[in-house]
Amino acid sequence: MIALGNDHAGVQLKSAVAEFLTSRNLPYTNFGTDDESSVDYPDFAQAIGEAISKGQADRGILICGTGIGISISANKMPGIRAALCGDTFSARMSREHNDANVLCLGARVIGTGLALDIVAAWLDTPFGGGRHQRRVDKIGALEGAPVR
Ligand code: RB5
Repeated sequence: MIALGNDHAGVQLKSAVAEFLTSRNLPYTNFGTDDESSVDYPDFAQAIGEAISKGQADRGILICGTGIGISISANKMPGIRAALCGDTFSARMSREHNDANVLCLGARVIGTGLALDIVAAWLDTPFGGGRHQRRVDKIGALEGAPVR
């Protein structure tokens, strides 16, 4: 199951992503707002982070205006590797090299067509493992690591 989350700036793009997932028969749960009145993006990052940590979702897609605030927020959550992508190459690499479990999009930055291509590339690319696993393990070890 894919968890979708968004603030007020991401309502329209979230609907397009949801429609795209439906067209691929991919189940999702909408944790985002469906209303364009102002809300706080960290709340949605938290909801998706918790859903993934509890095993209720396999991966997440988060959308805010730039994708920046929601990706910073998501990366504070344990076990979350959130990648803000504005191109398909980064989307593929975020899966192959970084095993990103959350994709972040900036609804005010990219158009719907590119956003859906990014989502497709991200969903279709498996993690490469091997040397990348060692690096991903080191990312995990940074959580709670003392500042030197
Ligand atoms: C909301 O106005 C905007 O700040 C938010 O969607 C996002 O771009 C933050 O990073």
